[in-house]
Amino acid sequence: MSHPQLTTRPQWQALKQHFAQIGSQHLRELFATNPQRGEQLTAEAAGLYLDYSKQRVNADTLRLLRELAIACGLPQRIQAMFRGDKINTTENRAVLHVALRAPASEKILVDGRDVVPGVHAVLDRMAAFAEQVRSGAWVGHTGKRIRNVISIGIGGSDLGPVMAYEALRHYSQRDITFRFVSNVDGTDFVEATRDLDAAETLFIVCSKTFTTLETLTNAHAARAWCLKALGEDKAIAKHFVAVSTNAEEVAKFGIDTAHMFGFWDWVGGRYSMASAIGLSTLLAIGAESFRAMLDGFHAMDVHFRSTPFERNLPVLMGLLAIWNNNFLDTATVAVLPYEQYLKRFPAYLQQLTMESNGKHVTLDGAVVDYATGPIYWGEPGTNGQHSFYQLIHQGTHIVPCDFIGFGQPLNSLSDQHDLLMANLIAQGEALAFGKTVDEVRAEGTDAALAPHRTFAGNRPSNTLLAEKLTPYALGTLIALYEHSVFVQGTIWNIDSFDQWGVELGKQLAKATIAELTTKNEPKLAHDSSTSTLIRRYRQLRNDGNSGSGA
Ligand code: F6P
Repeated sequence: MSHPQLTTRPQWQALKQHFAQIGSQHLRELFATNPQRGEQLTAEAAGLYLDYSKQRVNADTLRLLRELAIACGLPQRIQAMFRGDKINTTENRAVLHVALRAPASEKILVDGRDVVPGVHAVLDRMAAFAEQVRSGAWVGHTGKRIRNVISIGIGGSDLGPVMAYEALRHYSQRDITFRFVSNVDGTDFVEATRDLDAAETLFIVCSKTFTTLETLTNAHAARAWCLKALGEDKAIAKHFVAVSTNAEEVAKFGIDTAHMFGFWDWVGGRYSMASAIGLSTLLAIGAESFRAMLDGFHAMDVHFRSTPFERNLPVLMGLLAIWNNNFLDTATVAVLPYEQYLKRFPAYLQQLTMESNGKHVTLDGAVVDYATGPIYWGEPGTNGQHSFYQLIHQGTHIVPCDFIGFGQPLNSLSDQHDLLMANLIAQGEALAFGKTVDEVRAEGTDAALAPHRTFAGNRPSNTLLAEKLTPYALGTLIALYEHSVFVQGTIWNIDSFDQWGVELGKQLAKATIAELTTKNEPKLAHDSSTSTLIRRYRQLRNDGNSGSGA
């Protein structure tokens, strides 16, 4: 079904008009006219508390955004996703990451077949395998127990597992070392393995397609590294397992498919951390905690599917993102977890949000005339405060921020958690309310310096709070962002589940590799910049090979 272009919808026009009226209103004014705002513009679900009162919206904005969502068919799209409809139209696939965390009692049909039993069968196999490794029952080729687990993968087959491992490290089994190798840069593999004994090392090769250049290259390097240390081919069986949807390629690589954990084409790479791609997470934290994480995901899934839009966290976050991106023209979002264990969360979110919503055509193939996915980035607080926050506070770009914090620390060191959280709360306040020139002057600052010390304020932020960073809380947080991405993609009428934009670079690299490495000077037919870079690289490379470098 073809949709009218978003910007011609009356609901979009109404928002434009509304923006013309309230766009310049300051958060100071909004809070002054409604002293209850900080309690009213909040919502809570599955242990997550969202304060969006510091967004530049009022009740009318929220109503108009909800009306837009309804006009864009969001209620129907949510149901279609949960029902297993093939909403990833450019790949003709269902989008069912929610099935990965559905309880065994649920039924979800894809092409007439219930997928839930298969999900639980894989989970049970993962749990049994993890138990063997964690307990020491699974031993390597020489009989030594496994002390190191290296997960090899890239993109969605890496970022989720790394992020989850770091986030839940507090709950991890500490006598096993976990490392992650993703980059085709050999340094990644070499540094990850240089101090390890192959006889104690298990590789998990994670790739949905099992054809990804980086992952296959690293998996071959891992096999060579193992063989060099362990001598014989049959050693591989005890040191390699695979996670994939492609049994044929797994077997071709030389991993016994009995040691393969499967998933399905209806799980997108960046939505796969609750599938077998999470095997390293399960190995680290154990089956009970992994299931608690899945429960957290599921609690947010249920909330998203069934809660009225007024109180629906992913819907609210998604619609506020539309408001900022398309009406305030903000183009970027900073994600600022005040929790050191979430240090890889921004990197994980970058793929989730930007690979999903970095699109320029609608589902019907028409070029959009509005901005789609914003640029996500971030760092844990308080580190960011001493680098890029200057720009967020006083620069000319407005950067909406998501602050994320917890009531209880996982490591208490005197009063450090209170210091951390005081900073989180203060940053949102400073961004929203700023400091006027009069306030600065009243402090006795001299007139010449006063402009430098003023803060315009009116910079929007969300604050997300939960009691403690547990596996359950992590699940809720991730599902919140996953569904918020979907809400935004639905409004923009784009396919949030394909990633054609990664193809061209891959194709060109394939052709370029030969040009970089052939012995004889290749005939180059690129543009002058690309050809010159190839020539310069060949020269630098050959200088290195001739041993003339330092
Ligand atoms: O970067 C493109 C991409 O296809 C991602 O979407 C995906 O997560 C990643 O590559 C890895 O793919 P695979 O799991 O098939 O190795």
